[in-house]
Amino acid sequence: MKKPKRYLVTAALPYANGPVHIGHLAGCYLPADIYVRYLRLQGEDVKFICGSDEHGVPITIKARKEGLTPQQVVDTYHHLMKKAFEDFSISFDIYSRTSSPHHHHTASEFFKTLYQKGVFTEEVTQQYYDEQAQQFLADRYIIGTCPKCGFGNAYGDQCENCGSSLNPTDLIEPRSALSGSRPVMRTTRNWYLPLDKLQPAIEHYIETIKDQLKPNVYGQVKAWLQQGLAPRAMTRDLDWGVPVPLEQAKGKVLYVWFDAPIGYISATQELLPDQWQNYWQDPDTALIHFIGKDNIVFHCIIFPAMLMAHGGYVLPANVPANEFLNLEGDKISTSRNWAIWLHEYLTELPGRESELRYVLTSIAPETSDSEFTWKDYQARINNELVAIPGNLANRVLTLMQKYYNGIIPQDICEYTQADELRSATQKAYEEIDRNIRAFKLRNALQEWMDLARFGNKYLTESEPWKLFQENPEKTCEILSNSLVLLGHLAKLMLPFMPRAGQQLLHMLGKSTIEQLHTPISWKSGEQLPKPSLLFRKLEDSEIEPQITRLEHIRQQQATKPTYTLPPLKDLVAYEDFQKLDLRIATVLAAQKLPKADKLLQLTLDTGIDRRTVISGVAQYYQPEQLIGKQVLLLANLAPRKIRGIESHGMILFAEGNSGRLVTLMPTENVENGSPVA
Ligand code: 2FM
Ligand code: ZN
Repeated sequence: MKKPKRYLVTAALPYANGPVHIGHLAGCYLPADIYVRYLRLQGEDVKFICGSDEHGVPITIKARKEGLTPQQVVDTYHHLMKKAFEDFSISFDIYSRTSSPHHHHTASEFFKTLYQKGVFTEEVTQQYYDEQAQQFLADRYIIGTCPKCGFGNAYGDQCENCGSSLNPTDLIEPRSALSGSRPVMRTTRNWYLPLDKLQPAIEHYIETIKDQLKPNVYGQVKAWLQQGLAPRAMTRDLDWGVPVPLEQAKGKVLYVWFDAPIGYISATQELLPDQWQNYWQDPDTALIHFIGKDNIVFHCIIFPAMLMAHGGYVLPANVPANEFLNLEGDKISTSRNWAIWLHEYLTELPGRESELRYVLTSIAPETSDSEFTWKDYQARINNELVAIPGNLANRVLTLMQKYYNGIIPQDICEYTQADELRSATQKAYEEIDRNIRAFKLRNALQEWMDLARFGNKYLTESEPWKLFQENPEKTCEILSNSLVLLGHLAKLMLPFMPRAGQQLLHMLGKSTIEQLHTPISWKSGEQLPKPSLLFRKLEDSEIEPQITRLEHIRQQQATKPTYTLPPLKDLVAYEDFQKLDLRIATVLAAQKLPKADKLLQLTLDTGIDRRTVISGVAQYYQPEQLIGKQVLLLANLAPRKIRGIESHGMILFAEGNSGRLVTLMPTENVENGSPVA
């Protein structure tokens, strides 16, 4: 590939409906930051773009649940995420947001251009509409019974009980999550990106970058293309988002995945109002999107298709997507609070920002899902960071104090380094460069650690402490060599651990450096600062609270329903509640109904009468399990004929996971007919 003149690097715009966790950092923001910091240190022209993704249905759902407006939700998380990224030294040139008027304008103009070019196809489809709430329902807003597993609270796009992906029309007895009412079908018109027609152009584009793509990315893209692309709606019937700029589309907004990637463009415009075109429209720019694997189709297919259809834009040169990071054996989950949140980490482990960056890079899910555990985190800090580079810095700088009171005894520059050290250093620079440019950051970090290992070995084998009396020149040479090596280690660690790298430079008596090739040298007589520790050992007591917290969550989860509960129904007046006649009754007899697997025919003693009730619990109770039991009866439900038998009332059950029914009975026997109120 021709060397680009400049780089535009983006990191996926995180949804502003929850805080950022270590999985986000390891999978996307940290690799992007290391890459960008490295390019900057190489003197490359690079801009690093990110911001909050503030539209989409999940944000509106969260707002409803919390009684807030969507804007209030995104305001909270935008600031929380921005601060977390700063705390972990993610060096965005801009962190913008998609609810900004500038972004709305840019996304709107982009849509208009495609519309005017006749790119979109218009389609009229049938969609669920809530007549009470007077709005169309996004898939997530429709709840009903899963046709696959019978779970009563499946969403219109997915059943969280059995994991099947669904269409809203698959649901049995659908109801609206907004009002609880049964939605009706209404026609609606939307604008589609004809990905089917654009497929040949997309395939051609993918061919041109295929050799650069990571195998996991190319594999996914190929699978999508082989399946054949289908037109996808770029407008939605929703009231939160960028309004569709068409007269005939009142009340509709742009699909969140249409406006979000345009967020990369609008943020660049905000950063560089006069030069943004250089980064987006000059073919000498390499556009690189760092993302997680769930975003591959959007960045390799849909966004490039939008850019091509618009014209005038460069296309992504690479999309280094990572897999996912798991936590202590389980998938990270925001809703289950199974995560290590960045905004909490630093209050609990203050000053350990570089350590987290190190560990997350060492275990980054570059080629497959990987795993974070607190024990492994501790081991990597103590056995690697503290034991290798930390120890080397400490040994060298302590000896400098011991023999020279920290005063540099002779001029030292990078060229004074002995040959064996120079070639090890040279190799480290080359390997780190090669690996970072190929997005293999784990390997690059390993090379850096190997150089530190080499430094320790050199010091141990050359034993300057044995030579100081007879051969002070040799001691001076060994320590000078070691100082130079520490200088290289400090420079090379800056992309991975900018703060610790800066600290090491400071310990060497140097201030910041702009570029990797800026040599580090010392003049005779320079005073080194008093040695301090580069990395501190991590004690068991520091991670125990973290482990306990997760164990606690695990225990809580074990007793908590793993599915989403139905929303609360509308309020009822007390007078209405009083109309229900709830009584305790005893089951006298029970039998299965022929040819009805779900039904039992029960005879009840209500204290007032004996009556027949048909109940749909045959899957959960054998008849004999119920005989003699007291149950809760809705006694004044109007009689209904079920399978030819009149049922007088209804026995009430609790509905557990997957619709499992459980009887409700008094904790002590009471007289039959006792009212329940
Ligand atoms: O998956 C996500 O978190 C999305 N908000 C990523 C958007 S990336 C881009 F297109 F803006
Ligand atoms: Zn299901």
